[in-house]
This record gives sequence, structure tokens and C-alpha cells, in this order.
Amino acid sequence: MDEFMPRGAIMVEKTLAIIKPDAVKKKLAGKIIQRIEDEDFKISGLKMLHLTREEAEGFYIIHKDKHFYNSLTDFMSSGEIVIMVLEGENAISHWRKVMGATDPALAEPGTLRHAFGSSIEQNSTHGSDSPSTAEWEIDYFYK
Ligand code: CMP
Repeated sequence: MDEFMPRGAIMVEKTLAIIKPDAVKKKLAGKIIQRIEDEDFKISGLKMLHLTREEAEGFYIIHKDKHFYNSLTDFMSSGEIVIMVLEGENAISHWRKVMGATDPALAEPGTLRHAFGSSIEQNSTHGSDSPSTAEWEIDYFYK
């Protein structure tokens, strides 16, 4: 953050949001986008893609040593996804709050993952977890 930013200044951030293949297949993309607009995010980028296995592996490279990496990248390349850039005040933490916990079984009522996720992997949505990750993830899809 700029150290000369005035106290109380609004932190407008960008974050990368993905509607995952499980949610697109269940025809939930419209409901999720409506929720994004109801939460007052500005959608400044939006596209539908079907990732190759290699593109999914590249996107989740940070998890390459995790036991779920193969299954996750298989799933993320199994169907169409909707990729969005969301803008707003504290957009990164705001979007993570709207999604809820990674595991839908632990997500609070009212969150997207509680409503639409079916497993820790097929959890309907993705969001960046920090400003540096957001920058890297946005760049990955919007070079
Ligand atoms: P996402 O927010 O896209 O970030 C990494 C993804 O890995 C996560 O959501 C889940 O879909 C998946 N994931 C995280 N933990 C596990 C796990 N223990 N088993 C399977 N998939 C996981």
C-alpha cells in the first residue's frame, strides 16, 4: 500500500473470480453473477473459457505438490468456466467472504459455497487470496 495514502482512503482493489465447471454445468452462472452485482462489485472483465489441462496446471501451479493437484486440474479442465475481474472496496476479502470457506461443509449459510458447492474440490467458485496473487491471476488470464 502507498505509505502516503491518506488515512481513511478507500482501498479499491481488483480480484480474480472464477465460476468453476461444477457451477456452470448446474446452470448457476447467472445466479452467481447476480449475487456479484448485488454485492456492488464492478465486473471489469468477463469471459467463458474451457481450460486445457496444461492451462489448469499452470493456474494452480502453487498447489503442484499437494495430493489434490491432479484431481483439481482434471476437474478445472473438465468443462467451461466463467472468469471475471471484480473491482471494489476491499474486493479480495469481500469476494472471499461472499464465497465462504473452501470446504462447503464448513461454509456459512448465505455464502455461495454453502449454497452451491458439493465438495472441497467442486466448490463452485474461486477467488484470489492476496493482492500479489490477484495481480498474478489476473495477468494469467488477461495478458
Ligand atoms: P480454490 O479457491 O480454487 O483454490 C484451490 C482449490 O483446491 C480449492 O479452491 C479447492 O477447489 C481445491 N482444494 C483445496 N483443498 C483441497 C483438498 N483438501 N482436497 C481437494 N481439493 C482441494
